[in-house]
Amino acid sequence: MKALAILFATSEMAPGVKTGGLGDVAAALPVALHQARQDVRVLIPAYPALKKTFPEATLLAEIPPLAPALPAARLLSAHAAGLPLLLLDCPALYERPGNPYLDPLGNDWPDNPIRFGLLSRVAALLGQEQSPLAWRADVVHANDWQTALAPAFLHYGGGAASVLTVHNIAFQGCFGGEPLVTALGLPDFSWRFDGVEYHGQLSFLKAGLQLASQLSTVSPTYAREIQDEHFGYALAPLLRHRRDDLRGILNGIDATTWNPANDPALVHPYAANRLAAKRRNKIALQNEMGLTEASDRPLFGVVSRLTHQKGHDLLLAIGDGLPHLPAQLVLLGSGDQQIEAGFLALARRHPGQIAVKLGFDEALAHRIEAGADAFLMPSRFEPCGLNQLYSLRYGTPPVVRATGGLADTVIDISEETLAARTANGFVLADESPHALWLALERVCATWQDKKLWQRLQQNGMRRDSSWAQAAGAYLALYHDALARRH
Ligand code: ADP
Ligand code: GLC
Repeated sequence: MKALAILFATSEMAPGVKTGGLGDVAAALPVALHQARQDVRVLIPAYPALKKTFPEATLLAEIPPLAPALPAARLLSAHAAGLPLLLLDCPALYERPGNPYLDPLGNDWPDNPIRFGLLSRVAALLGQEQSPLAWRADVVHANDWQTALAPAFLHYGGGAASVLTVHNIAFQGCFGGEPLVTALGLPDFSWRFDGVEYHGQLSFLKAGLQLASQLSTVSPTYAREIQDEHFGYALAPLLRHRRDDLRGILNGIDATTWNPANDPALVHPYAANRLAAKRRNKIALQNEMGLTEASDRPLFGVVSRLTHQKGHDLLLAIGDGLPHLPAQLVLLGSGDQQIEAGFLALARRHPGQIAVKLGFDEALAHRIEAGADAFLMPSRFEPCGLNQLYSLRYGTPPVVRATGGLADTVIDISEETLAARTANGFVLADESPHALWLALERVCATWQDKKLWQRLQQNGMRRDSSWAQAAGAYLALYHDALARRH
């Protein structure tokens, strides 16, 4: 079959530009598609971090102003992991401190609709006759609200088929009102309930969900959940309406970056058949984080955005009990100030037993995956979740709530699942501090039985979380999108 020309449009990409899992996906899925012999290119803004990583990037095309509010820009060409990268250069919009979405104080950049309106518009352009490149996409793959206007531009302006993947429906990109439609170069008649309008605002995500040729999200369970108001909010009816075009494709992980046998962040590499060395990572982590070198109790690890989604307020509620379980805790994260302050105070009350580091630290994240005994993810909702997959790979059984991708990947330990050799973690009975406490008690009891614990670790480490399978599913989705477009 002829290779498809696929444009993967994204607002972040690991390792240089990453606020969460989308960054990891953008660094790995296009590579897997490339390995499946597809003609993939990645479009991303030329943030300062990327300009620094690719100083050799060359000018590929000039892009004139495409709408009243969209400034002129340039496309730069670079290569990452053998893959062509298209860097959208517009210093006035993208050359800023802070992360891709927020200023250094943590506030949304006020011109985000322009910044990501331009990204979406250029993504669409590369799938249209007017493409400034000799190359033209057959399929434009948008990800989350930041590129979700691309399907709308393609719907109204013609061109490539489009796919929108929802990585998190809680972020919808809602801005301004009707004048924004003209400012961004969308036709006036797109301002309607079955167009881009959403309760009096322009919603990037809703526009994409309404108008993309095909839709996907990052796990089968989340694909079902978002059709329900509890998870899908007011977008649930639209998702039910489009349920035949919506697929749940579980994320993979980058098995090179996340490999305990060959991880540059670790001093003591290990593997499923060499698990003894994992203990040395625990001691190293205890020392690094100022915890006592206790070997009689499990060490729980957390690496997470600290937001309501992730449910760590449940952990805070029982935090003072942890040393009495007995257990230790190491947490790396950043987010809501109140949750951050709560964990800092908890660590101050239990020196040597609970350690907290605020901020984003890629290498420490790897050392926590390796050094912790169990990994905590009591998420209220979790579209896919990558950390439980990293934990499984690192022999660090995850403790999760049965939601989204966590429900699809973590199998609670029981007599039956042990016999079937599928048990790989612990699942909370419900969303409460008490349920978390009961699960942690189970973890401690199981951890004391070294043989049983090792079986659990090895079941998890055997899981194939490579991207190849997901790449095949996306390819099928692209073909469906093309068939629909025609
Ligand atoms: P989400 O995208 O909702 O934050 P995921 O589990 O899909 O959740 O992905 C989170 C990614 O971000 C993982 O790679 C995780 O290791 C990383 N991460 C989150 N917080 C931090 C942090 N404070 N420091 C380093 N890495 C982090
Ligand atoms: C989102 C979700 C997370 C998912 C990631 C990558 O940030 O919160 O569950 O793993 O996207 O798809």
